[in-house]
Amino acid sequence: MPATPRVPRDLAESACRAPGTLRLVAVIDLRSDTLTQPTPAMRDAMARAEVGDDVYGEDPTVNRLQETAARLLGKEAALYVPSGTMGNQASLHPFVRPGDVLLAGKGAHVLWYESGAPAALSGIQVETLGHGGFFDGAEVRAAVRPDESHYAPTRAVAVENTHNRSGGRVFPLDRIKDVAAAAREHGLHLHLDGARLWNAVVATGTPADAWAAPFDTVTFCLSKGLGAPVGSVICATREAIRRIHRARKMLGGGMRQAGVLAAAGLHALEHHVERLAHDHANARRLAEGLAELGFAIEGAPETNMVMFRVEDTAGFREALRSRDLYVNPMDPGRFRAVTHLDVSADDIEDAIDRIGRIVKEGIR
Ligand SMILES: Cc1ncc(COP(=O)(O)O)c(C=O)c1O
Repeated sequence: MPATPRVPRDLAESACRAPGTLRLVAVIDLRSDTLTQPTPAMRDAMARAEVGDDVYGEDPTVNRLQETAARLLGKEAALYVPSGTMGNQASLHPFVRPGDVLLAGKGAHVLWYESGAPAALSGIQVETLGHGGFFDGAEVRAAVRPDESHYAPTRAVAVENTHNRSGGRVFPLDRIKDVAAAAREHGLHLHLDGARLWNAVVATGTPADAWAAPFDTVTFCLSKGLGAPVGSVICATREAIRRIHRARKMLGGGMRQAGVLAAAGLHALEHHVERLAHDHANARRLAEGLAELGFAIEGAPETNMVMFRVEDTAGFREALRSRDLYVNPMDPGRFRAVTHLDVSADDIEDAIDRIGRIVKEGIR
């Protein structure tokens, strides 16, 4: 595993310092797996990348990343995009028309965290289904409007796997197949927001192409648990990618010598997939430590996130921060801790220790 980066805080002002002593306290940042720093080996790969103009399709490193992603996901073609948000929006845009309906799980990233993009960029409405981000074929069938002359036509379905707001839970493959069967019956475009698809792959042992097979379009992020600074990849048929390519250009995602960034993505796919198991083990250990301290945990962590309940949202967050420990609340009273490349097993023990001190002060 790579060395854990240590960010020293002001030596004179650390709340973790016993009175009269001087101690270097490392920041432990569990807000998100997007916070990772590129490793020295990744930076080296970026510096050495062969590049060209990718708008001309002439960047050899971008092309290699796209070919690798398509092969891993069992799709004909792939397209590199700057972000997961653009990946989702460009994957939907060519397949819907203004006024159409996109079905998605409750708490879906496309609805909560993409700044209204489905409505603003494609003119579509989002209707949410199910619980905790999951739904099934029957719910899709029930949501499809019977008469397009009167109702907004349902045109697409988006599945999020793993599901962020439900705490990194894995959407079971048999339910995905059930959703896919319903989508096929109604001719709906089926998209996978696989920002953390590789976490699902490592957690279940089910390969990426099996997860991708039911879908028309699949995005995965290189900049989450995989640790690249930038980028996502869309995988689909050659014809779908041709249409998505235009959407990417329209959205301003045509990049030029993007190989310096794609090299980080290739490095991540080669070196940072299997190590996600460490993040999952760290999440399980953190959940165990929090439970021992009396916190209610929302289900055993399936991947790299721990959702837990606190009584005093603002007070607890402030107490964490004063101990150089960063964790975000998702909702009032509900915190999400995310493990990643820059958090070691020792950091997790340290984090549990710091939280234990907070609890002793009566804050929880
Ligand atoms: C499930 C999910 N989808 C999409 C995205 C969007 O990725 P980006 O931040 O690269 O736009 C995120 C980001 O956190 C996410 O969690």
